[in-house]
Amino acid sequence: MSSFSSNRSTRVPIPVLMWRRASYTTNAADPFVLTTPLYYVNAPPHMGSAYTTVAADAIARFQRLLGKEVIFITGTDEHGEKIASAAAANGSSPSEHCDIISEGYRALWKELDISYDKFIRTTDPNHEAIVKEFYSKVLAKGDIYRADYEGLYCVNCEEYKDEKELLDDNCCPMHLKPCVRRKEDNYFFALSKYQKQLEEILIENPDFVQPSFRMNEVQGWVKSGLRDFSISRASVNWGIPVPNDAKQTIYVWFDALLGYISALLEDNKQPSLQTAIFSGWPASLHLIGKDILRFHAVYWPAMLMSAGISLPKKVFGHGFLTKDGMKMGKSLGNTLEPTELVHRFGPDAVRYFFLKEVEFGGDGDYSEDRFINIINANLANTIGNLLNRTLGLLRKNCQSTITVDSAIAAEGNAFKDIVGNLVDKARQHYENLELSSACEAVLEIGTAGNVYIDEKAPWSLFKQGESGFETASKDLVIVLEAIRIVAIALSPITPSLSLRIYTQLGYSEDQFNAVSWSETRWGGLKFGHITTEPKPVFARIELETDSNNATSETKKASKKKERQKTQKVVEA
Ligand code: MSP
Repeated sequence: MSSFSSNRSTRVPIPVLMWRRASYTTNAADPFVLTTPLYYVNAPPHMGSAYTTVAADAIARFQRLLGKEVIFITGTDEHGEKIASAAAANGSSPSEHCDIISEGYRALWKELDISYDKFIRTTDPNHEAIVKEFYSKVLAKGDIYRADYEGLYCVNCEEYKDEKELLDDNCCPMHLKPCVRRKEDNYFFALSKYQKQLEEILIENPDFVQPSFRMNEVQGWVKSGLRDFSISRASVNWGIPVPNDAKQTIYVWFDALLGYISALLEDNKQPSLQTAIFSGWPASLHLIGKDILRFHAVYWPAMLMSAGISLPKKVFGHGFLTKDGMKMGKSLGNTLEPTELVHRFGPDAVRYFFLKEVEFGGDGDYSEDRFINIINANLANTIGNLLNRTLGLLRKNCQSTITVDSAIAAEGNAFKDIVGNLVDKARQHYENLELSSACEAVLEIGTAGNVYIDEKAPWSLFKQGESGFETASKDLVIVLEAIRIVAIALSPITPSLSLRIYTQLGYSEDQFNAVSWSETRWGGLKFGHITTEPKPVFARIELETDSNNATSETKKASKKKERQKTQKVVEA
């Protein structure tokens, strides 16, 4: 049987036995392929589902700044019982329902400034072709067999549950809804065959699952013994038919995981596993929530091994956004509406808050007060206000012109080294997926800039006339150079705000779009460069109770909200 691995630079298939080495060495020419989960379209997205995508977008943008070719994959998971029931409850056909909700995800990604490269829908006929080809390979390997199965099924998880995991009345601990007893004649995947290989892989590749405490969990599952799982459903019509048995459809997870590969297909090319894989597989990083870790770190690698395909390099399981300590979710109905948040506060505030305030990997609770306090303190004051007052001084005293190269202005100045160290720290944090710490490091540059300008008080020096001019104007250049660096280093998290900062500093949008991480090195602002008129880049959020009057931004947002007819979709 042939095996597929990708090595785009040479286009030479790597034999399957080499995958371990091939997958874990990084070739600079390989693209950085990262994925979000493919979201169920039972209901519109909520903030919990948007969270993974926002994090993935920050990582994709950071990798692009490093000069990597990035393929950022997201999409929707559209088959299975849960989706069919949601469509029926909504009075739509499954395909109409999927079109509407899937479009809602795309629209939200646009509002949140998500720069995805591929959006895969599991109802795409090319995806179906890939799933069938994959199924046939696994069948040919002898890893699929038919058997009866009886167990307790959670429709919301789309998973048979072990009775030991359930709460009273056989309730799923995640969805707090009773599981239903099912007896079916199904096709099974021989997961147990891969137990030993999986154990070895996890030992040899300790970074395969991150954070490390999640790796311990995965090792625990594998050690406790892997049981074969059912990969078809006799009772579900809304799915991809099992090859050679149209009475059954392929289990939604077996189908959806393959979306990560079918997303790589290039337009107008005949869909085949080989062409998809040669376009970028293996994935560098699967970003997922902790509830779907078993599927990604146990089932998926075993399925790939069975088909002779390289394994992804890393699976990162983040925590949950919670409300009152409970996982925010469509099934529990305790969600936070991301569109509403974006309309009220803008995409940068939403992205920044969740990435900075929730340590990536752990859980985090949302509160509006905390949201407003953090955004006002960090984005409006520490960064926005520093830029505004410094540009104001430059305008008043230097005709908005940089009076000396920033490199010369900062010669022998310790502040420059502080900024350099913080930028290096931020880079390391981004590389390690420590997004919150990356935000902290960049914010510290802003804090240090505020301390610097307050200590130097250039406004007093300017008052002294010519004698103070040189020092004061140098200090302005130093602070503005630090803000330029902040704009780049924070751009993975707050792309629109960073663009606004960059244009106020006198650069064009094209210049901003062409910027790379290497330009966080000190010395970008040059003598004679002209900055633009200072305008607040980030308006403080005013609570309605603060001023009895909403800010113009809030007013605009609520008008926009009124105009928008929210789609009525019944929650599953
Ligand atoms: N369709 C599957 C994934 C298939 S991937 C091949 C699925 N979909 S989902 O819509 O239910 O969940 C998608 C992702 O959103 C999961 O990673 C899940 O952890 C995440 N979140 C859903 N609610 C969440 C929170 N409240 N907080 C953070 N993320 C959560 O599972």
